[in-house]
Amino acid sequence: MSTRKIAVLTSGGDCCGMNAALYDIYKLSKKYKFELCFVLNGLKGLLDDTFIDVSYNHETDSKLKDYSKKGGTFIYSARVKNFIEESVQKEAVKTLKKHKITDLIVIGGNGSFKAALALSKLGLNVYGIPATIDNDLFYTEFTLGFLSSFIHNLDYIDTLRVTMRSHHRLALVEVMGNKCGELAAFSSYYGDGDICFVNELNNSVDDIIKFINKKSEKSILIVSESVMHSSKLLELIKDKVDIEVKDCNLGHLQRGGNNEMEDLYLANEFVNETFKNLLNEDSGKCVGIKGCDDKFKGEVFSIDINKIDSFTNHNYSELINRVYQKVKETNEAK
Ligand code: F6P
Repeated sequence: MSTRKIAVLTSGGDCCGMNAALYDIYKLSKKYKFELCFVLNGLKGLLDDTFIDVSYNHETDSKLKDYSKKGGTFIYSARVKNFIEESVQKEAVKTLKKHKITDLIVIGGNGSFKAALALSKLGLNVYGIPATIDNDLFYTEFTLGFLSSFIHNLDYIDTLRVTMRSHHRLALVEVMGNKCGELAAFSSYYGDGDICFVNELNNSVDDIIKFINKKSEKSILIVSESVMHSSKLLELIKDKVDIEVKDCNLGHLQRGGNNEMEDLYLANEFVNETFKNLLNEDSGKCVGIKGCDDKFKGEVFSIDINKIDSFTNHNYSELINRVYQKVKETNEAK
């Protein structure tokens, strides 16, 4: 009988790749004969004590295998605002101790990693797997969820282009990204957007109006949520441009759908690396990927969770820089 008991939770905005990671964790826990439990509803589950012990049997195998191809998270997620309070964190540690958890794996974004760091400071063995469609954990080139979301966006953009072009209209396509324009930039570059409005390129609304008015054929303008909502942009520009504009916010569509191959690969790599750390009892680590090529494959690595805040952008990433450069050139093209 193993002396390790692992708890796993998914926290923050759900995204593709989370279920794939859960299945990979299940398989490796089974292989190493660790006890495993899922915490329902993310960090909130640590406070509400919604722990589910996982049994290794045929039924769980097939259930998890089915889920692993789907987006979202079958163990649910939640956002917990008061997790920054130490008394709340101590409550969570109490529940984890009650269940004799030796290791906690947190799958989530920025806020979830802050919670993971706090729990590790309180003495828990914590491991982080980055997952958010925003791609705003800058220590890693890609997080789970981002690649599936932007790939799904390509279909939505193509669909919109057909109707917009037929009426000589321009769609103001709002793409998610709380404080980061990367999902918008990738969606625009790979989806052949005509204009891309992200903070990272330092354009003003006036610049955008100029881009619209000087370009001959245009039907797709991608605006990142981190700049402003498409509905607001519509109000600001509708009387100043020589084309009819339509508000097309993609909204939560972007967080659903099935896992793309890219996220299945990433989930697998991230979980393998996490288990290396776990087996070496090297806790307080989160995993990432760097040096990615055009197929989004790169070198997987681990880093101390307390070091990730020193990364404030993706300037080191050739691939991401290239995407920004390309959308800038497209914006400025005659
Ligand atoms: O998970 C990230 C994200 O999708 C952001 O892009 C967006 O701003 C936010 O979450 C939306 O959150 P909610 O689903 O809670 O409305």
